[in-house]
Amino acid sequence: MLTKEQNELVSQTGPGTQMGRLFRSYWLPALLAEELPENDCPPVRVKLLGERLIAFRDSSGNYGLMDEFCAHRGVSLWFGRNEGDGLRCPYHGWKFDHTGQCIEVPSEPAANGFCQKIKLTAYPMVKRGDILWTYMGPADQQPPLPVWEFCVVPSEQTFTSKRFQESNWLQALEGGIDSSHVSWLHRGDIGHDPLFKGAKGNDYNMGDLAPVFEVVQSDGGLYIGARRNAEDGNYYWRITQFVMPCFTMIPPRGDHPMHGHFWVPIDDENCWAWSYDFHPTRPLSVVERTAMMAGKGVHVVLQPGTYHSAANKDNDYLMDRNKQKLGMTYSGVDGIAMQDASLQESMGPIVDRTRENLVGTDNGIIMARMRLMRAAKALAEKGTVPPGVDLAHQRVRSAAMILGPDQHYKDAGREALTSVLGTPQTTV
Ligand code: FES
Ligand SMILES: [Fe+2]
Repeated sequence: MLTKEQNELVSQTGPGTQMGRLFRSYWLPALLAEELPENDCPPVRVKLLGERLIAFRDSSGNYGLMDEFCAHRGVSLWFGRNEGDGLRCPYHGWKFDHTGQCIEVPSEPAANGFCQKIKLTAYPMVKRGDILWTYMGPADQQPPLPVWEFCVVPSEQTFTSKRFQESNWLQALEGGIDSSHVSWLHRGDIGHDPLFKGAKGNDYNMGDLAPVFEVVQSDGGLYIGARRNAEDGNYYWRITQFVMPCFTMIPPRGDHPMHGHFWVPIDDENCWAWSYDFHPTRPLSVVERTAMMAGKGVHVVLQPGTYHSAANKDNDYLMDRNKQKLGMTYSGVDGIAMQDASLQESMGPIVDRTRENLVGTDNGIIMARMRLMRAAKALAEKGTVPPGVDLAHQRVRSAAMILGPDQHYKDAGREALTSVLGTPQTTV
């Protein structure tokens, strides 16, 4: 349970908020690279952390991300003309380059220097992997570029999608670290989804529906360990990673690719669910990539030409009561990601955490909230650099392993939980 004030603190990420300042300490996914596919392509509207921005790519290939609205009289630059070295507002022809600098005010004599004094708020945007990342914090505190394994492995080993979610970012993140729901909500899918099925670990998952959770603080966030019974008194452990502020990684199953999410606030009532899959040592197979593009695993079927899911609130997520009754899907909603999204959206745009009743399996969620709130306060009050900025905190892997009764994953799994490029994952 949180107080009303705490719930507002963790939910609100707009300019001037404590959690908003925390988010502005990191490189965050802004767009898929495919959204700005070539030089001079159409500009794209971006809303992040409550700020309305416009993204474009100029004739030289520079990426620009700046205030959506023209500095003259506020026209949306989505209508802008992408012309050579900048984006020109179609209303009176003011032109801005990729740094937000105004470079032309046609009505003013160039000699009077007026346009040099006009600059839109702009943020750096850089391609890493399949993603265009941005940093929206103070320029003098810009951290090095992110090194998450899924975006630094060769491109044939990785796949990323994104999906609009109508809920606050935190209730989406909380789904990512709440592994206790997997044996319930996703039970119909673990054995059938092409990106999950066939792993020995699935049998342990389904054979023990009361896992014991052990959450341990990591340098960048949390390890969320779930222990289930295996043979001969041994245990099957699944360790999920949470890295501040909004990265999660699900433990692997067999030789399937590893996957996880970024949960990025659009505003306080909507977020982007970024979903990645990668294999640390081999290219994704045609079958795997096809399944990802078809919305299997952690991905979803999208409405063509958008990043909005085909199943959504307006069509009751294509609920199938017959499948629910027969147990083909546990909730009646198809697909692992939409099962999560449908329930998280059903909680309302910002869930009232003063009314919840948490239990032992919610430990990961409780500790994640505490860590976020502590880091936001320390940053606001003392300027402390938050966990997850340090590149070492980003070199993480989730893992699945069998351990003896006397072993703890935080010791026995130390190497398995660290990303070393080109080495195999630890999986069951
Ligand atoms: S409003 Fe953009 S140039 Fe006038
Ligand atoms: Fe889930």
